[in-house]
Amino acid sequence: MARVFVSNHIPGTALDRLGAEHDTKVWPERTVPPADELRRRVAGADGLLSMLTDRVDAELIEDSPGLRAISNYAVGVDNVDLAAATHRGIPVGNTPGVLTDSTADMALALMLAACRRVVESDAVVRRGDWLTWEPEFLIGYDLHGSTVGIVGYGRIGRAVARRVEGFGCEVLRTRETPLEEVLERSDFVTLHVPLNEETRGMIGEAALERMKPTAYLVNTARGPIVDQEALRRALREGKIAGAALDVTDPEPLPADDPLLEAPNLTVVPHLGSATHATREAMADLAVDNLLAGLAGERMPHCANPDVYGSVP
Ligand code: DGY
Repeated sequence: MARVFVSNHIPGTALDRLGAEHDTKVWPERTVPPADELRRRVAGADGLLSMLTDRVDAELIEDSPGLRAISNYAVGVDNVDLAAATHRGIPVGNTPGVLTDSTADMALALMLAACRRVVESDAVVRRGDWLTWEPEFLIGYDLHGSTVGIVGYGRIGRAVARRVEGFGCEVLRTRETPLEEVLERSDFVTLHVPLNEETRGMIGEAALERMKPTAYLVNTARGPIVDQEALRRALREGKIAGAALDVTDPEPLPADDPLLEAPNLTVVPHLGSATHATREAMADLAVDNLLAGLAGERMPHCANPDVYGSVP
C-alpha cells in the first residue's frame, strides 16, 4: 500500500478507488495547501495527486525521496517541473481530452457574454436602469458571421473552431496564418496555447495594438499568456472592444486588482472545465494515472513520456 497525498477534494467516486488501494490523505480545506505544508505532506508520500494551483517544483520533487508518481488534475502541467520529475524518473499524469468540449463551450460563453454585454446588462436590470425598450440600448456586436482568430490549434482550439463554424464564422488559425495577421483581421481572438516560456506575455502591448478597436480578446488558457497591465491600458484607451477571461495572473485575482477597474471586461474564476461530468471524468483519469504510476505501469496520459525511455 502506497502513501498518497491528494491536495484537494475531487468530485465523483474516483477517490474511493484510490483509497481502496492506497493509504490516501486528502487535504481537508477548501483552499489548497500552503507551499510549506505541501512540501511537508509530499515529503512523506509515494504518490501525489496535485491541483493546477500547486507548485510542484524541482525543490519539492528533490525533497520527496519516496515520490514515484505525480498526477496533475488538469491538462495543463505548467505548475509541475517536468524536467525535474523526468530526471528523477517520476511520471507526471495529466487529463487531456475529457475537458476539451467543456472548455470550448466556456470560450463560446465568454465570446457571447462579451459581445452581447450579458454581464453588464444583468447589472443594469438589477440597478433599476431598464427604463424601456430602446433602439440604442446596450448594443453589442455579433458573433455570427464574424472572424474568429484561434491562437493555438490543439484539441481545445479545434473544438472552438467547430463551434464557431456553426455560427457561420470565418476561422483564422495561427497554424496557417501568422499571429500578426490573425490579430489584425479577427473580431475575436481566443487563446488556446499552453503556458511556457514562448507563450508567456505573448499578448502584450504590441499584440493588443494590432487588434481592431471592435475586437474582443478571450482567454481560457492560462493567465500569464496575457500581459494584464497592457490589457488594462488597452481596455481603458478603447484599443479593443472588450475582453473576457477565464484565467488571470495571479489566481485568484484579488478583488482590488487594477485590472478589474478596466471597462468592458468580464472575468470568471477559471471555470473552463467546471461541469459535473467533466470534473468527474478528470477525477477518474487523474486517479487512473496515479494508480498506474504507483503500480509501475505506463500512465494512460503522461505529460513526460520520456520517463518511459524508448518503450512504446
Ligand atoms: C486544465 O486542465 O489545465 C484546465 O485549466 C482546468 O480547467
